[in-house]
Amino acid sequence: MFPIVLLLLAFAESLAAQPIKVWERGQGNHFQKFVKPVNQKSIDIPNLISKNLFDVQYQKKSDYQGYYLSHLLKSYDSNKDTALLHISNGMRVPIPMALIQDHSFDPFIAVKMIGPKGNPQPFPKLMRKDSRFNDPRPLVFTTNKLVISHDRVPLKDHRAGLNPFRFTTSLEAIEMINYKSWLKQFSVNSSPETDIGLKIFASRCQYCHGVRSVGATFGWDFVEPLAIYQKRSPENLLLHVKFQKMDAVPRGLLMPPQFDFSPHESKALWQWLKNSALKAQQAYQ
Ligand code: HEC
Repeated sequence: MFPIVLLLLAFAESLAAQPIKVWERGQGNHFQKFVKPVNQKSIDIPNLISKNLFDVQYQKKSDYQGYYLSHLLKSYDSNKDTALLHISNGMRVPIPMALIQDHSFDPFIAVKMIGPKGNPQPFPKLMRKDSRFNDPRPLVFTTNKLVISHDRVPLKDHRAGLNPFRFTTSLEAIEMINYKSWLKQFSVNSSPETDIGLKIFASRCQYCHGVRSVGATFGWDFVEPLAIYQKRSPENLLLHVKFQKMDAVPRGLLMPPQFDFSPHESKALWQWLKNSALKAQQAYQ
């Protein structure tokens, strides 16, 4: 038993030391699968520093060893304005480079958690709270863990009350983008109402959902294989976003409820979902 544990620890250690891939999103073809990465580099992780930090996921302070995102990105020259974090569970979180560079929002990427005796220990799985059930789909951290200390994250377009870093697992890669061009891929541009829908998508959904394989894949794709606007009416969508299902924990559902979601927003978002399904998607430029 003991040698196996050691072996696993050594394996986890070698994974944690893996370089992180960084590239710029290529222009042209709109399907993410076929967009060629530009200037792709494997960046060695920087020297580790020790930090005692509060973490919004574990809701406690712990000792970590890791590095800041700004340290990693120092070795990558790019004039793009946003770092799109690729998270191992399929989430995509855009962070403005200006915030990273002036350290006003510079996530700490822990590669080790240090136990009470000073020895490294694996990152505990994150269970959702419901004492009646075991969580069938806990969040699992592998190579590293983003440690964010408060819920007021200054992300662009972000809604207070929804902190995407409560759901992130390990940082896998970073794609450098121009944020305006990125959002344009999701724009349906037909009426002001649909533009409102796009803003709502950007502020409440894009961290976890994508459209036709562009963007996040943690939750369902909004258009393929099933167009969500056909499955849910605006009223129905409102209930789905605003409230968590009673059986969310036993079924392993991960989508967080957003209590401040209004009927007005649901209508606008639904219109945008419909147009996204009916119109061709725009290319990243
Ligand atoms: C933190 C991640 C996250 C955010 C933010 C999020 N979702 Fe989800 N969503 C999920 C996941 C994961 C699923 C798959 C089912 C599950 O595990 O809950 C899902 C499933 C869905 C489904 C399909 C399930 C069904 O019963 O129809 C719809 C529709 C949906 N989300 C809409 C939205 C909309 C609209 C927003 C923004 C207002 C949003 N989601 C924001 C994670 C998220």
